[in-house]
Amino acid sequence: MSMSLRNSLPEIVTETIPGPKSAELLKIRKNNVTDGVGMLAPVFVDRAEGAMVQDVDGNRFLDFVAGIGVLNIGHSHPEVVEAVQKQAERYFAPNLNVFNYAEYPKLAEKLNEIIPIEGEKETILVNTGAEADENAVKIARRFTGRSEIICFAGAFHGRSYMTMAMTSKCKPYKTGFGPLPQGVNRFPFPYCYRCPHGLEPDSCGMHCLKMFEESYFLEYVDPEQVAAIIMEPVLGEGGFIAPPREYMTGIRKLCDKYGILLIADEIQAGYGRTGKMFACEHWDVRPDIVVSAKSVAGGIPVACVTARKDIMEIFRPGELGGTYCGNALATASALKVLEIMERDDYCAKGRHIGEVCMKRFLEMQKKYDIIGDVRGVGAMQALEFVKDPVTKEPAKEECKAIINECMMHGLVVLGAGVRDNCIRFLLPLVITDEQMNAGLDILEKAIAKIAGK
Ligand SMILES: Cc1ncc(COP(=O)(O)O)c(C=O)c1O
Repeated sequence: MSMSLRNSLPEIVTETIPGPKSAELLKIRKNNVTDGVGMLAPVFVDRAEGAMVQDVDGNRFLDFVAGIGVLNIGHSHPEVVEAVQKQAERYFAPNLNVFNYAEYPKLAEKLNEIIPIEGEKETILVNTGAEADENAVKIARRFTGRSEIICFAGAFHGRSYMTMAMTSKCKPYKTGFGPLPQGVNRFPFPYCYRCPHGLEPDSCGMHCLKMFEESYFLEYVDPEQVAAIIMEPVLGEGGFIAPPREYMTGIRKLCDKYGILLIADEIQAGYGRTGKMFACEHWDVRPDIVVSAKSVAGGIPVACVTARKDIMEIFRPGELGGTYCGNALATASALKVLEIMERDDYCAKGRHIGEVCMKRFLEMQKKYDIIGDVRGVGAMQALEFVKDPVTKEPAKEECKAIINECMMHGLVVLGAGVRDNCIRFLLPLVITDEQMNAGLDILEKAIAKIAGK
């Protein structure tokens, strides 16, 4: 019975979406939950397996969002379910500040083995991506004794105050929530499709990198006051934009030259999504601190801050941590997820999905002018929609209409980009080829309809 959902294809059986049962539940949500929490699919989940979600009315959706990158391992992986059930029978939350339990240090040991930081490392576990980024900043400031943080245009780091300050997009994330914390300096990201300096990628001479020493470090912030540069190796919410290799390696060199720590925010890009375990491995760049979360635990909240041992060694008991951090259910789940990812080569799955999607997207781009840019690394791919390929005017309404049209045919996809004109694809890495192709067919029909072809 349950195997059939895992391998099934999308099917809409109700006349409308939401169907009647979801519509009833939506009334409860509407009356009791603030609209401040976003909603993509107006349906309620009955069960979910692999890349498929079945709603309470019996509609089957293909999930190309995977909990926003949380479910690289897919919904309800049977071995992960078993590991969590077994753990639940023993204990949930001894709290590492009180009692020791093996899952926390064992997960730290595993992360210290696989996280691409040079030399010896140590890890702390927290609960959310934002909390992990907050801790990375806290650690960097304390270690360097410096106050300033550099972040980038297009970045998303979370909704807590410091991470909101480091996040780029104003609406809906920042507007009206000020004052925001000090010490945050934002510089342009190498978004080559819309070069912030108006240059062409092949002839730009890495102008954006040169700007650090020619301008930013003279006019905006003294590098000797900078504790860390925090960077998503591939922008997530910003629209899946990967910087050129030279830029990444150049940032590492600047960090070395000025004693700045490099924090890689791998929260969305990590754990096989880009076809390598961590995205910064594509550029052979070794950060000083790596922040990871989302897909590490197959859907149970845990986030990880891993850093050079000499950085982590300076802290005294009580300076880091929190009540629920490294909860035993999450750590047991993460240990199983990482075991499966290595055993079943999830990085290869990420590369395969990336190849299939990229080929299809490039074919679609030839047919539909509305697709301005096709980009991504591995299975972290995005389409950017424009009204005109020459002017590149963002096609925000059309993008929304394509997302909606997909939903009506059983494919859930998510928007991205500061201009709200991108769709990002976060297919669970366990998706079958048949499901992937079915989803891409629905997407193409939706694009053709909205593009008027
Ligand atoms: C790159 C990145 N950093 C940080 C966060 C914040 O994570 P959380 O929502 O768990 O606080 C996200 C969430 O989408 C993210 O994609």
